[in-house]
Amino acid sequence: MDRTLTLLGIESSCDDTAAAVVRLTPGLPPEILSSQVLAQTNLHAAFGGVVPEIAARAHAERLDSVVEEALTVAGVGLDALDGIAVTAGPGLIGGVLSGVMLARGLAAARGLPLMAVNHLAGHALTPRLTDEIAFPYLMLLVSGGHCQFLLVEGVDRFRRLGGTIDDAPGEAFDKTAKLLGLPQPGGPAVEGEAMLGDPKRFAFPRPLLDREGCDMSFSGLKTALLRARDSLIVAHGGLTVQDRRDLCAGFQAAVAEVLAIKTDRALALSGPVTALAVAGGVAANKPIRAMLETVSTRHGTPFLAPPLRLCTDNAAMIAWAGIERIRVGILPSSDFAARPRWPLDDTAPALLGSGKKGAKA
Ligand code: KG4
Ligand code: ZN
Repeated sequence: MDRTLTLLGIESSCDDTAAAVVRLTPGLPPEILSSQVLAQTNLHAAFGGVVPEIAARAHAERLDSVVEEALTVAGVGLDALDGIAVTAGPGLIGGVLSGVMLARGLAAARGLPLMAVNHLAGHALTPRLTDEIAFPYLMLLVSGGHCQFLLVEGVDRFRRLGGTIDDAPGEAFDKTAKLLGLPQPGGPAVEGEAMLGDPKRFAFPRPLLDREGCDMSFSGLKTALLRARDSLIVAHGGLTVQDRRDLCAGFQAAVAEVLAIKTDRALALSGPVTALAVAGGVAANKPIRAMLETVSTRHGTPFLAPPLRLCTDNAAMIAWAGIERIRVGILPSSDFAARPRWPLDDTAPALLGSGKKGAKA
C-alpha cells in the first residue's frame, strides 16, 4: 500500500467515549492528528463499577460531539477521510452498538469504507503506532478489564499464551482501595499508600505460581487482604495509617511478583521477540513497570511502555488497527456483528474471568 491513509477511529466498548484521527503517509512515522477521550468515571462512581445501561446511554448521547471534536482538532473533514474504523467488540454490548451504529451511518452517508476492529487488537497493535516495532513481539495487557499475554505475530495473528482466570489486576487494585476506604480508581491511590508501607509485614499469597504456564489469578489476593484488614479491626478496633500503607504495599508486591514471574515464563514460551510491550492502566504502576523491565532485560528483550494515554482505552489505537488492516489488504466491510465476546486467539481456551468492565476475551 503506497498511498496516504487517514482514518477516523471510534471506541465505545467500555466507559470511555473516544474518537481519533490517525494518518499514515508512506515513508513517514504514523501521525495521531487527534485523540479525544471523554471518560464516564463520574457517572459510575456511586455504583462501584461500570453500569452497562448508563454507559450505553452516555456513549449514545456523546459520541457524535466527540467525533466532531476529533475531526475539528485534526483539521480534517469527513471528505478527507479514507475510511472509518470502529470497535466492534469485545465489550459492553450497548456501548459497542452505539459506536457501530454511528460508524455505519457515517460510512453509508459518505460512501466511506468501514473496518470492524477488535478492541484487544487495538491495544495489541499500539506499539507499532508509537514505536513502529516489527512482529513478533510479546504484549502484556494489564488493566481493569484485561489481563493476558499475547504473542503478536501479525496484524491479524495473535496467540494468547495465558491470562487471568478471574479478576484483572486493575480490578483487584480497585477492590483493594474500596476495602481500605481509598478513592477510585484504586490503582494510583494504592500505589501512593504502598510507597510509604512495608511490603513484608503481611504475607499475601502469590496465586497459581505452582501451575505451569502463564495463567494468573487475582481474586484470592483480594480475599486475603480482606481477612488481614478484618483481623486488624477485630484486634485493634480499626486501622492505623501505617496499617493501611502496609496492606497496600503487601498487596502491590504480590501483584508485581506474580506479573513478573508469569512474564518471565511468557518470554520463555514465546521464543525470540522484538520487544516486551505493556498496555493498560496498571502499566502506569511504577514498581510493577520496573519489575517487568527487569525481567525483560534479563531475557535480553527491549521493554516498551507506550505513553499512558495510548496504553489506556482510546480511539487512536482503533484507527491505527484499521490502517494496519487496510495496509495488508484486509477488505473493509459494513457487514459485521457487534460482539460482546471476541477472543483474538480462537484456539486458546476461553478465559473464565469477565472483569468488572464486562467480558473482554
Ligand atoms: O486501561 P484502563 O484505563 O481501563 C480499562 O480497564 O480498560 O485501566 C484502568 C485500571 C483501573 O483498574 C485502575 O485502578 C488501574 O488501571 N490503574 C492502576 C494504576 N493506574 C491505573 N493500577 C495500579 N497502579 C496504578 N498506578
Ligand atoms: Zn481496553
